[in-house]
Amino acid sequence: MRRPLVAGNWKMNGSLESIRGLLDGIKRGIGRVKSAEVAVCPPYVYLPETQKRLTGSEIAWGGQDLSTEMSGAYTGEVAAPMLNDFCCKYVIVGHSERRGYHAESDELVAKKFAAARAAGLMPILCVGETLEEREAGTTNAVVARQLDAVIALQEADALADGVVAYEPVWAIGTGRTATPEQAQEVHAFIRARVAESNQDVAEGLRILYGGSMKPDNAKELIGKPDIDGGLIGGASLKAEDFLGICTAAD
Ligand code: PGA
Repeated sequence: MRRPLVAGNWKMNGSLESIRGLLDGIKRGIGRVKSAEVAVCPPYVYLPETQKRLTGSEIAWGGQDLSTEMSGAYTGEVAAPMLNDFCCKYVIVGHSERRGYHAESDELVAKKFAAARAAGLMPILCVGETLEEREAGTTNAVVARQLDAVIALQEADALADGVVAYEPVWAIGTGRTATPEQAQEVHAFIRARVAESNQDVAEGLRILYGGSMKPDNAKELIGKPDIDGGLIGGASLKAEDFLGICTAAD
């Protein structure tokens, strides 16, 4: 049995004050969540506060990105050991906003995945197609290419230490969620692709859905056989909404 995971991606939102409220709100309600694992990924600068408030709770936390390098002259970057200093468990790699706005290639994302693993962090590898790619019928090809870059660099075994998030770019922040059937189809494809290299890893791999997941559509999505939780943007910025998704994942 794969334990569902619901991870909040706060992106570049919040202030110290609002983040405190959000962390406390989630902490207060976490008792309602029975079996799902819950994690939050705040902006880097709020990691110390996140660690302070969540230590001793059931909630895990992580970074939204990391450098491929472990230290050195890389202005503006944050390295995996730095995330370790604040006891991060997870780190998101290859989010479509990084791939899109920062021109991150599949190869670079694969290196980030490897850097996270090397430091004992659990990477959440984001994959997903744009609207044009879906309409051109290339969804599976795009997702396969993004996944294969990681497998080529690290072998499929590496995915045993990570999580995959299928996030169709057209569904992120748009209110336009993939239907449970559309999502399930791609999730099953991802699992089968990994199974071609390693059956055991594929069976144990948690594949999250991300893209306008809300408390009222979470149950149907996570109810699908290959959807093992969610990576939540907008709805993770309100404690009640986020907890609603977490309980739907139970
Ligand atoms: P959304 O974002 O839930 O706001 O669509 C998801 C994500 O980008 O991870």
